[in-house]
Amino acid sequence: MPKFNDIDLENWKESDVWTDSLWIIHERDKSGKHSNFYHGNFVPQIPRQFILRYSKENDLVFDPFLGSGTTAYECETLKRNFVGVELQSKLVEKVQSNLDKTDKIAKVFCGDSTNRETFEEIHQFLKANKSSRVQLAILHPPYADIVKFSDLEEDLSNRKSLKSSWGVLL
Ligand SMILES: C[S@@+](CC[C@H](N)C(=O)[O-])C[C@H]1O[C@@H](n2cnc3c(N)ncnc32)[C@H](O)[C@@H]1O
Repeated sequence: MPKFNDIDLENWKESDVWTDSLWIIHERDKSGKHSNFYHGNFVPQIPRQFILRYSKENDLVFDPFLGSGTTAYECETLKRNFVGVELQSKLVEKVQSNLDKTDKIAKVFCGDSTNRETFEEIHQFLKANKSSRVQLAILHPPYADIVKFSDLEEDLSNRKSLKSSWGVLL
């Protein structure tokens, strides 16, 4: 059976993975690079649990809605390679400059995640880095009608219907 994670099932009770069916998070993790400055960001414990469960060290994780970089920072901590996409260039610059230079891939693209050209750029980048697939994709797209993230036309939080939203992702 292929190995999907690093959890030792013999000792699962000692692992950091939450096994309760209901996750009650009393306080969001604000340690390290998680500064909680961005409205509509992940509680870091959520991507952390996904990454621990569904990937292993050195796997490649993809987040097409990077925002403030919560998934990227969790990947850094958990020694995963990471590729992300975000529409807002200021966020891209901030997160990219915050990521350490290590032997892992830690790359953020500025672009539209519904656009085929963005995926072509990522594909070329991965090819140059002798990689062709991601092992885990974590998607945290804008919530309809709740948080407006920017005035950019391509921003999914500005779309009026699901049909007009998903482009290449469907
Ligand atoms: C819910 S937030 C993600 C928050 C992120 N998980 C974090 O912890 O900060 C959604 C993000 O998607 C970005 N976004 C919206 N439309 C996009 C698109 N078409 N392509 C790429 N990013 C987009 C927004 O700018 C916003 O930062």
